[in-house]
Amino acid sequence: MNTTLSIEINKTKSSKLPQTNFDDLKFGQTISDHMFVADYENGEWGNFRIEPYAPLQLNPANATLHYGQSVFEGMKAYKNENGEALIFRADANQKRLNESAKRMCIPEVPEHIFMEGLTQLLEVDKAWIPNKPGCSLYIRPFVFATDDYLGIRPSDKYKFMIFTCPVGNYYSKPVSVKVECEYTRAAEGGTGFAKAAGNYAGSLYPALQAQKQGYDQLLWTDGKSHQHIEESGTMNVMFMINDTLITAPTTTGTILKGITRDSVLTLAREMGVNIEERFLRVTELEDALRSGTLIEAFGTGTAATIAHIAKIHINGNDYELPQKDNSAFSNIILETLDGIKYGRLEDKHNWIIKI
Ligand code: COI
Repeated sequence: MNTTLSIEINKTKSSKLPQTNFDDLKFGQTISDHMFVADYENGEWGNFRIEPYAPLQLNPANATLHYGQSVFEGMKAYKNENGEALIFRADANQKRLNESAKRMCIPEVPEHIFMEGLTQLLEVDKAWIPNKPGCSLYIRPFVFATDDYLGIRPSDKYKFMIFTCPVGNYYSKPVSVKVECEYTRAAEGGTGFAKAAGNYAGSLYPALQAQKQGYDQLLWTDGKSHQHIEESGTMNVMFMINDTLITAPTTTGTILKGITRDSVLTLAREMGVNIEERFLRVTELEDALRSGTLIEAFGTGTAATIAHIAKIHINGNDYELPQKDNSAFSNIILETLDGIKYGRLEDKHNWIIKI
């Protein structure tokens, strides 16, 4: 990796750290002091800088505002017992950002720019990484078009930025989900696999309808038949039916290739768990709920970590799932993942970068 990126660093003169309450962190509300910025112009990335977090100046004709050419990532940094900063699977996020970028005609961010921007930003804002159990520094890299032009074509200019937020749990309790059989999140050949801003915009209205009915999130089904479970709005989903862990495959291009999903599957394989990467039919899920063979269901995501599912709504019926104790697979996997992320367990897969 080329390590000669020259980044101009301009630190804030008035840090927000003293007035930040690390005992009351709501997801995404508190933003750390600095941001990394790079500009893409004339076919190359340049003008690398770390500067105080501040509003951007945008022209009303900015292409992203109109046509949504924007992709993002979510990753986390943790503090170990010695106060060292650990970043989890940043290389996987860098690769996924570029897969999303390619689909949206956005130029890729080379690995050395992503990694150096990230590590230098965290060096500057290391004090923002919480050292409380369950808390972490959420990292938001994103790329968006900056041409001021109303014709439909890929922008010529872009910004790549990273900012961070100290966070606690995204969900403070087990979630209730509604199986969505009317609206569609993604179709084959579309952009469902990409972490594209527009995918999230399109999912807001259906999710809001479910929230008005008392559910936290949707369980999306496939766009063609609405008979197969795909993913949830904020996370991939996994089901333990009898002793088999079932999760949707990422081969149809309609499902986000979750990095937590991949980490869970990797660890589950090592534990000798039976795994089926296949589409679970809605009727099969309902049968398993009725017969009690659905042992547990949970979401996996960077923000959500492992989010237990407590209730599933299918076509007018609510099914409750029993609360899980420490021997449940989801809790063992959460404990194992946290052990690796916070540096308490051996990092056999080289998932951690220490800075
Ligand atoms: C993430 O888990 O990083 C996401 O981007 C999902 C979003 C709900 C915050």
